[in-house]
Amino acid sequence: MPSPHFIAPSILSADFSKLGEEVRSVLAAGADWVHFDVMDNHYVPNLTFGPMICQAIKPHAVFPDGKPSVMDVHLMVQPVDAIAAAFAEAGADYISFHPDASGHVHRSIQAIACKGCKPGLVFNPAQPLDVLDWVIDDIDLILIMSVNPGFGGQSFIDSALRKIEAARERIDASGKAIRLQVDGGIKPDNIRRAADAGADTFVAGSAIFGKPDYKAVIDQMRAALAA
Ligand code: DX5
Ligand code: ZN
Repeated sequence: MPSPHFIAPSILSADFSKLGEEVRSVLAAGADWVHFDVMDNHYVPNLTFGPMICQAIKPHAVFPDGKPSVMDVHLMVQPVDAIAAAFAEAGADYISFHPDASGHVHRSIQAIACKGCKPGLVFNPAQPLDVLDWVIDDIDLILIMSVNPGFGGQSFIDSALRKIEAARERIDASGKAIRLQVDGGIKPDNIRRAADAGADTFVAGSAIFGKPDYKAVIDQMRAALAA
C-alpha cells in the first residue's frame, strides 16, 4: 500500500542556480510533491519566484520513471486571483492562498478551481480556521503554517499542533478527501508529532535541501512516520 503521508520539499531552500536538477534530485530521493513558495514583498517581506519559473521547472518535476509529480504552489501574495490564474497556466496542480490576502475568498477559490487546479487555504500561526465554516466543501487542501510565512529555516511553533487537530476534525466531519498539510520547521524529529495531530502532507525546506544527502533525510522522515 502506498504511504498515506506525502513529503513536499520546499524549493525555497534549494540551490537556485540549478533548480531543475534540484527538483529531479529530490524526487529521485523519495519526495512526493514539489512545494513552490511564491512571495511578493508585500504580503510577506520577501520575494521569490513567479509563474515563469514554475513553467520552467514543470518539465523537471518528474520521478525517475518519467511520471509527473505534483506542483504544489503556495501563494504568499496579495492580491491573489490574477497571479493564481497565471500559475494555473504555468502548470500548477494545487494552488493555495492565505484567506486574509483575498478580499473575496470564495471568488479566489473559484478562480483556481475553474482553471482545473485544486484550491487550498493557508492559515498563519495566529489565524483562526473560521472561514472553513463556509468554504470547506470547495477546497482540496488545508495548509497549517507552523512558522510565520516569508522565510525558510525558522523554528516550529507548537500551537500549530492544536490547529492541525482542529483542522483534522473539520476535514473528517466534511467527509471530503482534503489533504492536511503542515509547513514550517518540519524535521525528522518533529514530523511524527505533526502526523499524530492529523497532518498527512509535510512541507520541509531547510531540513532537506540544507543537507547533502536528500534521500537520507527523507528516509529518516519516513521512518519517524512509520515508527
Ligand atoms: C515559509 C514557506 C515554507 C518554508 C519552509 O514561508 O512557506 O515552505 O520554505 O521552510 P523550512 O522547512 O525551512 O521551515
Ligand atoms: Zn510554503
